[in-house]
Amino acid sequence: MIHSINQIGWLPGRSGVRILDQTLLPTEERFLDITTVEQMAEAIRALRVRGAPLIGIAAAMGVAAAAGRLDGSPVRRRENVLGACDVLQATRPTAVNLAWALDRMRRRARSAGQEEDLRGALTAEADAIWEEDRAMCQRIGEAGLPLLPDGATVHTHCNAGALATGGIGTALAPIYLAHAAGRRVQVIADETRPLLQGSRLTAWELTRAGIPTTVIADSMAASRLRQGDITCVIVGADRIARNGDVANKIGSYGLALAAREHAVPFYVAAPRSTFDAATPHGAAIPIEERAPDELRGMGGSSARPTAPDAANIWNPAFDVTPAELIAGYITDAGLLGRGELERLVGG
Ligand code: MRU
Repeated sequence: MIHSINQIGWLPGRSGVRILDQTLLPTEERFLDITTVEQMAEAIRALRVRGAPLIGIAAAMGVAAAAGRLDGSPVRRRENVLGACDVLQATRPTAVNLAWALDRMRRRARSAGQEEDLRGALTAEADAIWEEDRAMCQRIGEAGLPLLPDGATVHTHCNAGALATGGIGTALAPIYLAHAAGRRVQVIADETRPLLQGSRLTAWELTRAGIPTTVIADSMAASRLRQGDITCVIVGADRIARNGDVANKIGSYGLALAAREHAVPFYVAAPRSTFDAATPHGAAIPIEERAPDELRGMGGSSARPTAPDAANIWNPAFDVTPAELIAGYITDAGLLGRGELERLVGG
């Protein structure tokens, strides 16, 4: 067992979903019980549960749990399930894993026969989505392991670890496996303004696993890369377009530019659910813009203002790193070059 983080789970009888409220980390480990679609939508929007694969899993489980409380005719119940999928899909636009998971739930709801137990069918589908993600994380870890020799230092951005997935993470998976194999590996974690997923979450889960982690402010990344001892950069992804452009947490693009300048390879780790064949290139990826208050006050709180009310705020949650800055894609189908991504699409 590499980690023991209960980032998500079912409530007894699969009547709801229990999530670790990530907004409270690293100071408080509090679980939140979710029994309605509206509660799940709020949890995803507020980033209580977050990370591209995990919001897909959470939404699927939320739909299945809600199906257990529906009454009316089979047709009516199916319509309600499809409505719940639409509500959850509208919560966050960039991570394609959310739409991917909900499309699976829609397909399963549509294919359920009149006599079939709709709730049972949807629960099984949500379980399959979760289990497949867990397995994909493991394979991503194995594909990235050769990149991390003993003594490796990995620079990462945001959180693409266990807290962002149903398993051991994507970008952090090779690090967990290298550590478990007895290799000395350490991590530089960008703080990741404005919501600090790097310092609050990545540093929390890695130090908990005993992996040496150094937090830096985002503005220090180029200087850190210039020191000359970084083995590679590994980040996760929220959506990968057909040409290999990658949407990930805001700041990833700047990190990729700095890595190229310092001849440090920049890798993107992602499961096949993050590859979007329908999006031709990065400019076509919808980028979520979040509330100005996240930048106006420390941690989104008006109690600690960080900008005057009169200032305008621009707060995109993600940016796009062009494919030419990416050394390789660490996937559940192995370490792939840009020309090999077709292999994952539609899988
Ligand atoms: O806004 P967040 O915290 O959901 O953003 C998360 C990221 O950008 C991750 O890097 C991405 O989802 C990959 S998670 C395996």
